[in-house]
Amino acid sequence: MIPAIRACNVSLAYSDGDVTNYAVRDVSLEIPERGFFGIMGPSGSGKSSLLYLLSGLKQATAGEVIFRNRRYHPMSEREITQLRRECFGFVFQQPFLLNYLTALENVLAAAPPGDSSASERAQELLETLHIVHLRDKYPYHLSGGERQRVCVARAMINRPQIIFADEPTAALDHKNGHTVIDLLSSYRERGAVIVVTHDPEMLTGADRIFLMRDGELESVIEPAPQTSAV
Ligand SMILES: Nc1ncnc2c1ncn2[C@@H]1O[C@H](COP(=O)(O)OP(=O)(O)OP(=O)(O)O)[C@@H](O)[C@H]1O
Ligand SMILES: [Mg+2]
Repeated sequence: MIPAIRACNVSLAYSDGDVTNYAVRDVSLEIPERGFFGIMGPSGSGKSSLLYLLSGLKQATAGEVIFRNRRYHPMSEREITQLRRECFGFVFQQPFLLNYLTALENVLAAAPPGDSSASERAQELLETLHIVHLRDKYPYHLSGGERQRVCVARAMINRPQIIFADEPTAALDHKNGHTVIDLLSSYRERGAVIVVTHDPEMLTGADRIFLMRDGELESVIEPAPQTSAV
């Protein structure tokens, strides 16, 4: 089976005068078609940058990223944007919503045009995330954690092949953090879910955890499958 994403010796470098800083350096990894995957590491170790590279939001300065059989590099910006819209869902580290749309409308804005079941699905997602009663509110009337949950619903509405979630529980209390992770992790049957977090508890049951340090992939942990006691 071909992996969903393959990164081959990928780097993201920033030049500052004569100095080159690497946000990501020479990282190679594979993300299978389905599963729940984690990225951990200290602040500044390159976790967000790695997600941007894997999702084509940023172009690698060396190496390459391949989604199924398609290399990002020769693709035009327009093709990559279309690919992201159709195949990926993204939860950014900073909850970003359109202020002139309600919570529900923000979620629906990411749905494929003409998808008649999207509205029902959006409400179900908001319900699971305990914010369905806020569906008609505008973002500036929502708390940071409520906005973050709207972003999670928006990332899932188009039933993407891959969900990228950058610290999706950072603004949430323990209970709602678990609700978000349970929802994301349940998606593993359908596609690949890649979650950046500082909280190892959120990655209990992950299929693979990538540990970043100073822009490099320090190690890959493959936890033993959980067996239920009979
Ligand atoms: N636009 C940029 N220009 C220059 N350096 C950058 C830029 N964006 C990120 N960096 C640097 O790249 C490194 C990795 O940043 P990144 O945001 O990927 O870290 P992170 O692991 O996500 O951190 P955090 O846990 O704080 O979110 C940092 O040292 C950061 O300062
Ligand atoms: Mg980050």
